[in-house]
Amino acid sequence: MDIPFLKKIIPPGLNFSFLSGKPSRVVGIDIGTYSTKVVQLRYESERAILETYGELLNAGYLKSATGVGSGFLRFLDKDIATLVQDVLRESKVTARDAVLSVPATSGFTVTIPFPKISLQEINDAVPLEARKYVPIPLSEVTLAWTILENDDTRDTIEVLLVAVPKEVVEKFKRIAELTGIRTRAIEIETFSVVRSLIGRDPTTTAVINMGHHSTTLAVVDRGIVRLSHGFNHGSQELTRAIERGLAVSEERAEALKREMGLSDRIEEREITSVMTPLVTSLLTEVNHAMQLYNRKTSRKIQKVDFTGGGSQLKGLIDLAATHFGTEVTRGNPFSRVVTPPFIQPMLQEISPSFSVAIGLALYELTSR
Ligand SMILES: Nc1ncnc2c1ncn2[C@@H]1O[C@H](COP(=O)(O)OP(=O)(O)OP(=O)(O)O)[C@@H](O)[C@H]1O
Ligand SMILES: [Mg+2]
Repeated sequence: MDIPFLKKIIPPGLNFSFLSGKPSRVVGIDIGTYSTKVVQLRYESERAILETYGELLNAGYLKSATGVGSGFLRFLDKDIATLVQDVLRESKVTARDAVLSVPATSGFTVTIPFPKISLQEINDAVPLEARKYVPIPLSEVTLAWTILENDDTRDTIEVLLVAVPKEVVEKFKRIAELTGIRTRAIEIETFSVVRSLIGRDPTTTAVINMGHHSTTLAVVDRGIVRLSHGFNHGSQELTRAIERGLAVSEERAEALKREMGLSDRIEEREITSVMTPLVTSLLTEVNHAMQLYNRKTSRKIQKVDFTGGGSQLKGLIDLAATHFGTEVTRGNPFSRVVTPPFIQPMLQEISPSFSVAIGLALYELTSR
């Protein structure tokens, strides 16, 4: 995996980019726990043009879990490869060069404070310091890090460190081989979302990606990720709660969740009352992480962008705005992509689910 922000100072051999040169088209592949999304972009000068995209539900493909890893990673290589092959075929993807996302809950991203010593000294010290922050032996992970700007408002120099288990990297390589794609890079999904939603906007923004199994938070300031965190709570919990609370099937619960959302109509209170405590608890957890961030800096979070399929829950944006006390919007991941005008209304509807895949497909445009 390579994170564009890490470019300047990644020690040789420590980025997770596998191939050099710049292809003319790239497919971003986001294997989620609910569905798998692909987006193919063509690069023309410094523009990215949408060529095709598609989504396939995972149900029916990923059944036998091996028990290792988080999210889709615990399923069999061959089942994941079949799923990816089918979504690529159904979406008429022609690109063979792919960038894939690592679930935020499968990697570790931490910010480590250092005293104001020289950059060389920091680079030497990071692998030693990393031991205290990464909960598995360093021999089993691949590390990459960047020194965040030397900020006068702080009395420390912050280093953003990313660690991905080697086992996860190997799994991606096996899946790619079975699928017949060339993996150009793998990247923790938080960074992909930031690339599609934020670009170069300097405003301090929190990006929340609410998925099926997990929710991720990234805090971005002046275009640089300062904090990245994964929470093991997602929209699936809402479906399960409706299923149990109202004694209905999973399909019915899913439909009710989408139809009703956090409605305040009296006849829909039963569904709302099942979901609201779970949503509030997730918002509280995310808010806690944002407040911890705010406490350490004078550049406080100015706005929050929601994305991910789970962010489509009716009433969520308003509830979050009240809860956080900041401006909350739904980000537009297609804003940096050239798209045909006639499909724009449709893209707006599906865009929350595609922000990771779009960010992945944009990777090559910004990384070289
Ligand atoms: N209109 C809607 N209202 C409420 N929930 C929705 C709506 N549309 C989709 N969802 C929910 O969004 C979730 C899927 O979102 P997404 O595609 O971002 O997840 P994923 O990427 O597969 O999962 P993860 O990132 O956690 O592995 C599902 O739980 C789905 O029920
Ligand atoms: Mg996802």
